Amino acid sequence: MGPIELNKRRIILLLASILAFYIVFHGLSSSSGDFRDVASQIPIPGHLNPTEHKLPPSAPDPDAIWDLELDPSPAPTPTPVPAPESELELEPEPENAIDTEKPIPPTSQPVEHFDLHPIAQLMQEADAEWRAYETQISTTFRQTVEKYRSKYGRHPPPGFKDWYKFARKRNVFNIDDFQQIMDDLRPFWALNASEIRIRAAHMWENPDFGVSVIHIRNHKVVRVDNPSWRSETMEKVIEKCIKFLPDMDIPMNRLDQPRLIVPWEDMQELLRKEYQTRIMAPEVTDSFTKNQPELLDINIEDKELDHSTRLSDDWFFAPGQQYMNLAAKGCPPESPARSNMTVADTDMLYKEPTLGFVKNFNLSTDLCTVGPTIQDLHGMLYSASSIIASQKLVPIFGECKVSVNNDILFPANMYYQHDERYDYDDEEDVDWRDKQDNTIWRGVTSGGVQLEDNWDRMHRQRLVQLFNGTHLSETGKEVKVLTEKDDGPGKVNTTYELYGRFQPSQFADRHSDIGFTEPMSCLPNCSFYDSVFSWKPQVSLTSQFKSRYLIDVDGHSFSGRWHAFLQSKSLGLKATIFREWHDSRLLAWRHFVPVDNRYDDIYGLLTYFIGYGKPYKQHVDEGGDSNSRVFVARHDREAQKLARQGREWANKVLRREDIEVYMFRLLLEYGRLIDDNRDFIGYSGDGSELDKFDAGEDDEGRWGFGGW
Ligand SMILES: *[C@@H]1O[C@H](CO)[C@@H](O)[C@H](O)[C@H]1NC(C)=O
Ligand SMILES: *[C@@H]1O[C@H](CO)[C@@H](O)[C@H](O)[C@H]1NC(C)=O
Ligand SMILES: *[C@@H]1O[C@H](CO)[C@@H](O)[C@H](O)[C@H]1NC(C)=O
Ligand SMILES: *[C@@H]1O[C@H](CO)[C@@H](O)[C@H](O)[C@H]1NC(C)=O
Ligand SMILES: *[C@@H]1O[C@H](CO)[C@@H](O)[C@H](O)[C@H]1NC(C)=O
Ligand SMILES: *[C@@H]1O[C@H](CO)[C@@H](O)[C@H](O)[C@H]1NC(C)=O
Repeated sequence: MGPIELNKRRIILLLASILAFYIVFHGLSSSSGDFRDVASQIPIPGHLNPTEHKLPPSAPDPDAIWDLELDPSPAPTPTPVPAPESELELEPEPENAIDTEKPIPPTSQPVEHFDLHPIAQLMQEADAEWRAYETQISTTFRQTVEKYRSKYGRHPPPGFKDWYKFARKRNVFNIDDFQQIMDDLRPFWALNASEIRIRAAHMWENPDFGVSVIHIRNHKVVRVDNPSWRSETMEKVIEKCIKFLPDMDIPMNRLDQPRLIVPWEDMQELLRKEYQTRIMAPEVTDSFTKNQPELLDINIEDKELDHSTRLSDDWFFAPGQQYMNLAAKGCPPESPARSNMTVADTDMLYKEPTLGFVKNFNLSTDLCTVGPTIQDLHGMLYSASSIIASQKLVPIFGECKVSVNNDILFPANMYYQHDERYDYDDEEDVDWRDKQDNTIWRGVTSGGVQLEDNWDRMHRQRLVQLFNGTHLSETGKEVKVLTEKDDGPGKVNTTYELYGRFQPSQFADRHSDIGFTEPMSCLPNCSFYDSVFSWKPQVSLTSQFKSRYLIDVDGHSFSGRWHAFLQSKSLGLKATIFREWHDSRLLAWRHFVPVDNRYDDIYGLLTYFIGYGKPYKQHVDEGGDSNSRVFVARHDREAQKLARQGREWANKVLRREDIEVYMFRLLLEYGRLIDDNRDFIGYSGDGSELDKFDAGEDDEGRWGFGGW
């Protein structure tokens, strides 16, 4: 039944519901001026609210995007607590560890000591954020649908009940957290369904544009155009839920690099439209419409014989160009990418002030914020091997994107298929105490096309150079670290100050094993590396877990090892510009350590965890050794705690089952989006049908909570 067939009664009901909806969410007093204000504030998915780029940088609320979210509970203000050692099940410290236990003061009044290192503060804040995340989760279908409606202003899509059961049976941890899907699909509501179908059906036809299309008809994948290993893996995931899916064409990016950059102003217009079309009819049909027109006619083998409508996707080729020239168009006008904000002011938006540890990981990966400062420091940003982009909003599914892209994310195939280069294997993942106090990284020279005069600005090359002791001492490189302040014998708290002249070469030699295994992607050939790098032996993924610290950086695109790093008992440190499906479930400083894309914080991080130097009482001036002034106690337990939290969390929310649940939900939402009756299909009940299921009184058995 389509909108045109509506009888009068239904139209009245419909109008009444729109009015009711409007009143609920805008209040009666809402004037048209108010509405304009609301609309002009609509943030772009994955972007910041315009106000977030204004100084001073009070911690931005990462959830602030959905205007309809009612009564957001204020973030709890973290109160300082004693250094978190006490709450840990401790593993014995290695012999040579510097003793960080504070001696009991001789007074009868116990004095509390606080370790005021900014990292301790960041970890506490992340814990508070995580507790809030963990406590707001729906536990029943009733709550889940209610939350859906209040958050998104629409009914859940058809099949939501099946998806809910599917997710519960797989022990999904947070049934509500599919924010990325909603963000990604939101602007598409501004396009009509037939336009999306037309584009999706034919996007594969010019193979130069690097798109595969998977065609689902009658609950089967009946054809894949331009297939690749990526589409094969995606097919395997789709199989799990295909019996619930309507006919659809799914275009998938075949390239490593993301595709779409819709200019910010156009995106605002699309989002405004989406907002205005939110609707909840009192009663909708819980099934997809059959026989939609404009899906690809798969009986026609030869595309030349298919005379159906085409729309141009306006792809253009832009490899090896400054990506920020394109990307800035997708940024809000007041963001650093489009204003002339200084580096210092930009840093204040997302770095803590003492050394510049990443305070807001979301912003540290946001090109509108960091783009201007890293545009010459990341291979994809100035020397990408392939960029095929469009400024039109067209449906294309991709594994990763940067903050300005409008691709529809799905869980990377690498995380699903079993590939020993990327799959977690516990064979050599020894316990923390048996790991080496070491930082490891291995990889090839990917990231962009390398020339003799540009390679040293690429992200991987910079990392390797920054940990090459020989190179560091030859060049006299100095970096920033924090050192404990000498506050005299009566000091109560441990405080720190910046030391900008730390010479890291010996520390790097002792505590890192970072290097390339082989060259690739150089023009005309890689001989210019002969005098710069020596190739290190390959180290299998599981052998890398013998080191405590695992650094993860981008390659040509996102890094496929990240899930395995998190699953391991080692601690992952991550720098990236890419966004992935799992981002809203991973919290920096709770599950991993964020690293700035400039790496200006990396020695501050490692000296904090590993420790450096002698306590100030024993400071001796060792002549020319400027490092002798530096002392930071070892914080091995904090590192271990983060590593353990990351591992436990990854085992709850980054499982193959979680990928299946994500994909199912994504394709249900997409299926509704491409349905001509999309405003009149979905789930309009109150959720009570699954009361028994939720109470475990169903034949199907009780679902377990993921991890309580
Ligand atoms: C859908 O959008 C296309 C392109 O914007 C337009 O040509 C077409 O008329 C629209 N169709 C309907 C049914 O609104
Ligand atoms: C930024 O600076 C350039 C050169 O000084 C100037 O041309 C441009 O108008 C400025 N842009 C903004 C947004 O202030
Ligand atoms: C130590 O730090 C705590 C927490 O920040 C603070 O409340 C206390 O006043 C500090 N004590 C001293 C002596 O500075
Ligand atoms: C690599 O390129 C350099 C510079 O163009 C050239 O001199 C050299 O012969 C090339 N080496 C090989 C193995 O092709
Ligand atoms: C480290 O740098 C030196 C000198 O710059 C170079 O000879 C050596 O090959 C580099 N080592 C690695 C592992 O790249
Ligand atoms: C990053 O911030 C934006 C804007 O506030 C938000 O939409 C997005 O969900 C955030 N991403 C994560 C991973 O928190």
